[in-house]
Amino acid sequence: MTNLLEDAVRISRIAGKLLKDRLLTEFSVEHKGPADLVTEMDRSAQELIKQEILYKYPDHGILAEEDLDIRGSDGFRWIVDPLDGTTNYAHRFPVFSVSIAVALENDILCGVVYNPVSEELFKAIRGSGASLNGFPIKVSDTLNLEDSLLGTGFSARIREAADNNLAHFGKFALKTQGIRRCGSAALDLCFVACGRLDGYWELGLKPWDIAAGSLIVREAGGKVTDFTGQQLKAEGSRILATNGRIHSQMMEILKPGDQVSR
Ligand code: IPD
Ligand code: CA
Ligand code: CA
Repeated sequence: MTNLLEDAVRISRIAGKLLKDRLLTEFSVEHKGPADLVTEMDRSAQELIKQEILYKYPDHGILAEEDLDIRGSDGFRWIVDPLDGTTNYAHRFPVFSVSIAVALENDILCGVVYNPVSEELFKAIRGSGASLNGFPIKVSDTLNLEDSLLGTGFSARIREAADNNLAHFGKFALKTQGIRRCGSAALDLCFVACGRLDGYWELGLKPWDIAAGSLIVREAGGKVTDFTGQQLKAEGSRILATNGRIHSQMMEILKPGDQVSR
């Protein structure tokens, strides 16, 4: 498993360097929806990651955001977000990451989230803890929601989504020290893992947004579930990740009710 993690780290650094080097250059941007962007660099980073994985592991599968779903033959699957934070990237707002997890069947074995601008690399192996640039990390010990700093995000489909997260945002804003919207779900999860955030919630996520980050939170001692406290499904679109201590307090706010605000 260590070899897989080392390769995931190496590949995330190669893709991260490409993204960082091209951030202030010209690149094309297309619309998948009114607020849903994809850049030339999402695709370039994904192609590079795909080539690197298949060169070394030709029998492995790959699931990645930009229409890539290769079924492998030996049960291993790499779950990749080549550029998490596309809207930031398209606006040259320098907060984004490369997220790579490796799963065997349905179990995530290891994960890496790399921010090439801050040069922060978060990683975890299942059962062996999590680290930031090689130093062990753990979640915060904040006990009360009123003392917490939270993270969240909004779907690129916010204009069409029935459940747009604005009502939850309003409620948490009045009950916490503040809410941050960094624009990369993978980084939000890592910020919970290292104690910068006490909790994070979001709706409408995809496996590549959360595969690596969820493992990193758990291995840092945190808790990751859906909004009802149940185990997150593989496709896990609604995620609640906390230091464990404020989990039930956040679930109380996220319980079904008037969730839509327009
Ligand atoms: C997005 C980011 C963002 C989150 C969105 C995601 P992308 O991923 O993680 O923080 O709020 O829901 O779709 O499109 O930049 O890879
Ligand atoms: Ca993403
Ligand atoms: Ca992406």
